[in-house]
Amino acid sequence: MAIVVSGSRAHSRLLGELLASRLNLRFTVVEGKRFPDGELYVRVTSSVKGEDVIVVQSMEPPQNDALVELMLLVDALVEAGAGDITLFAPYLPYARQDRVFLAGEPVSVRAILKTLHGLGVRRLIVVEAHSERALSHFPGYVVNVNPLPYMAKLSGLGGDVLVVSPDLGGISRARGVAEALGARSSYIAKVRDRVTGVISMDAGSLDPRGLDVVVVDDILSTGGTLAEASRILLERGARSVQVIVVHNLNLPGALERVLGAGVSRITTSNTLPQPDHQALKVIDVTPLVAGEIARWVS
Ligand code: R5P
Repeated sequence: MAIVVSGSRAHSRLLGELLASRLNLRFTVVEGKRFPDGELYVRVTSSVKGEDVIVVQSMEPPQNDALVELMLLVDALVEAGAGDITLFAPYLPYARQDRVFLAGEPVSVRAILKTLHGLGVRRLIVVEAHSERALSHFPGYVVNVNPLPYMAKLSGLGGDVLVVSPDLGGISRARGVAEALGARSSYIAKVRDRVTGVISMDAGSLDPRGLDVVVVDDILSTGGTLAEASRILLERGARSVQVIVVHNLNLPGALERVLGAGVSRITTSNTLPQPDHQALKVIDVTPLVAGEIARWVS
């Protein structure tokens, strides 16, 4: 039998409880606190000796704190004699720096994944990790759950929509959603200036006139990508634009930026904590994750 151990953040606890109850496993939350100088402290108070452990850590900003807590938690589990350690990271931070774009940069996600593996994480399960390349840097067993077809089916959309990726690199996401809905897909080409971070978009001959469009992406950070793509689509005559995005980082002003561009509804998941908002539909992805883990546990 395995035990589910969550980090001390409220969302880690919530996801840990959901996962444990879906898998019918014992659940415990780590005790966590912050010292006056900012350093973190954790303590595993349940017995984990000889038990396989599934660690659940939500990594919303400040993600660096979440990462340090996670490192301490894994070390504490090893120290306490835990068996195999699996990490469920609903959102993997730093995944967008999965390669060197400008000379002198690190492969940030590699640094993090190698550190976690070195500490004792043997298996990693992530929801939409941005790229397979990001996960290729983890030296152990890894599963990347693609929740988009599931989210598309639960979004209430039908096959009479056009599914658009706001980035050529995300075309397979749009295709997966289109397939799930029985719809057509297309893309807008996005170019990001690696020094300034400014994006520009080229929609080519894309003609969304009179169509209900769904823009699909993995991450909503500043909202710039989804807002700009939606603005272009509406300017070109789309009848309506909705968004399906896996991870909403919920940064200040981001939701408003996307909705302000004319988007009528955003469907996202609970990989990160979400605000209550009438235009936001949040889908629980733990059934998919539990399904994956159940396969290993059995
Ligand atoms: C980029 O590669 C990602 O797939 C997202 O499109 C991007 O991270 C979104 O960021 P923002 O909301 O700041 O435009």
